Parts: sequence; C-alpha cells; structure tokens
Amino acid sequence: MTKRVRKAVLPVAGLGTRVLPVARATPKNLLNVFDRPILSYVVEEARAAGIEHFIFITSRGQGAIEDYFDGNPEIEGALEAKGKTDVLAEVRRDILPPGSMSFIRQMAPLGLGHAVWCARELIGDEPFAVILPDMLMAAKTPAMAQTVAAYEKVGGNIVVVESVPDSETHKYGIVALDGQDGRISKMTGMVEKPAQGTAPSNLIISGRYILQPEIFPLLERQGKGAGGEIQLTDSMIELMKSQDFHALEYEGTTYDCGDKIGLLKANIAFALDRPEFADAARAAIKDLL
Ligand code: UTP
Repeated sequence: MTKRVRKAVLPVAGLGTRVLPVARATPKNLLNVFDRPILSYVVEEARAAGIEHFIFITSRGQGAIEDYFDGNPEIEGALEAKGKTDVLAEVRRDILPPGSMSFIRQMAPLGLGHAVWCARELIGDEPFAVILPDMLMAAKTPAMAQTVAAYEKVGGNIVVVESVPDSETHKYGIVALDGQDGRISKMTGMVEKPAQGTAPSNLIISGRYILQPEIFPLLERQGKGAGGEIQLTDSMIELMKSQDFHALEYEGTTYDCGDKIGLLKANIAFALDRPEFADAARAAIKDLL
C-alpha cells in the first residue's frame, strides 16, 4: 500500500536570469501565458491530481504570489455588482481553500535541492510532489495526475522525463534506465548536466517528481554540484542506493516558460487552444507573419 501524495512543493525562488529584465519586478512564475499566470495552470494541474497543500518556496519580492491565490473582495464585489458572472467564475477558479497554502523563504538561491530541503518541516514523514512551475505541461490527462497514477502502480520515487535531441542533453538532468518498457521504466542512474557526448540517454528530468521523505537528510548533507548549486539530482542519486526510482514518460507537451522563446511559444499555443479566442489568435499571428 502506497501512502497518498497530498502535498506539493513548488520552488519559485530562483533568480529567473533567463527572463530578465522582466523577472526583476515580477516573479517569473506569475508571468502570463495568455490570460493566466503560469502558476495558475500548474496549481490547477496539481489539484486535479488530488494535491491538497501547496508549499511555495519563495524569495524576496514575491508577495504577489500569495495575493494571486487569495480572494480579492474589491474585484469580486465589482464583478458581482456588474453581473459579470463568467469573469467572476474565472477569477474565483484560482482561489485556494483556507489553510491549503504555505510560503517558505529560501533566503538565498542556493539551488533546487536546497529549495526543496526548505520544505522539510512542512512535509514531515510522507511522500510529496515537487513541481517546477516554469515547465508548463499541456496534457489531456494532467501531467501530475499521470505521475500520481504511476506512483500508485509502482510506489517509491517517480521522476517525469521526456526526450530531447542528443545535442541538447548537456543542459539538463539526464536519467539512465534499465531498458524501456512502456512509459514507466526502472531507473538505474541520473546525472546533472553531463558533458556533451556522455549522456546515458536523451531523457531529461522535466519538472514533476514524487519523492519519499528520506530525501531530506540527504539534502541536508548535500554539497554543491553542477553550476555551484545544491542539486536535487545529486541527493536523488544517493537515495537511489536504498530506494526504487522509476521514470515516467508522460503524454503531453512541455513549454519551458523560464525561457523567453518557450514562454512566447506557450502564449501562442494556449491562445490557439482556447475555442473562443482561437480564430482571432490565428488571424493576429497570420497578420504578423
Ligand atoms: P531554474 O534554473 O529553471 O530557475 O530552476 P531559475 O534559477 O530561476 O532560472 P534561470 O536559470 O536563472 O533563468 C527551476 C525551478 O527551481 C526554482 C526556480 O525558481 C525554478 O522554478 N529554484 C531554483 C529555487 O526555488 N531556488 C533555487 O535556488 C534555484
């Protein structure tokens, strides 16, 4: 029997240097993809997978994230008074229930491993999800729900992966698999940003995980790794010595919204995907081209 996954850690404390200068003033994960901030989509994805508690790892100047998921009586009251019930429903869709959000300051962006470690007291002794919000995943069955389903099947630790061209592997965390059997495969290793030509596969760690709490003591001892940062991958490699890890090749499309062109592409794709805007969006894009 696997323990249910109820909590998710969303690390958003990075500097967002790839999307400067806008990330100076606006938290990168509040940048918009068409008419919603990136975080709105990933929180919705996680709620659809049964996640009940959201632990945001934040840095200075990110109070707007808290405000976004809170109610706003002024806006809601104005919409109600004007009878704009459809917009009101859209606004209320993102309001999280009381007690379901926590915010922890990372204080310094020491790396993803350090960010996840900051959640240790709130996670306690249960399995949990890690969601990298800038990897926006569009899928018929939401990516996190696919991940939870894989976890319920095989237990242990799950890492969502996807393939990239061989020439790109040096930019990512890469997994090694024990043969490939459908979408869920036993993992034998991982490496963070391997030198070109040395990657064990072309499957990258793409931003959704389910981890066991035994990762925390390993993160506590974890030194700096690739790029001088405390890497989550390095502690997962340690945990793999005593626990099972499976890779899940999820079904869907990922947009890297931490990258300017990735964010632009997501904006176009999500506009085209909205029936009420698709024709106007297509016409605007055609006009530009
Ligand atoms: P990224 O490397 O994509 O984000 O980390 P970044 O560091 O903000 O971006 P660049 O490379 O400078 O443009 C993946 C996720 O982990 C978070 C980031 O906010 C992002 O959501 N993160 C990273 C932290 O919360 N703390 C860290 O110390 C590092």
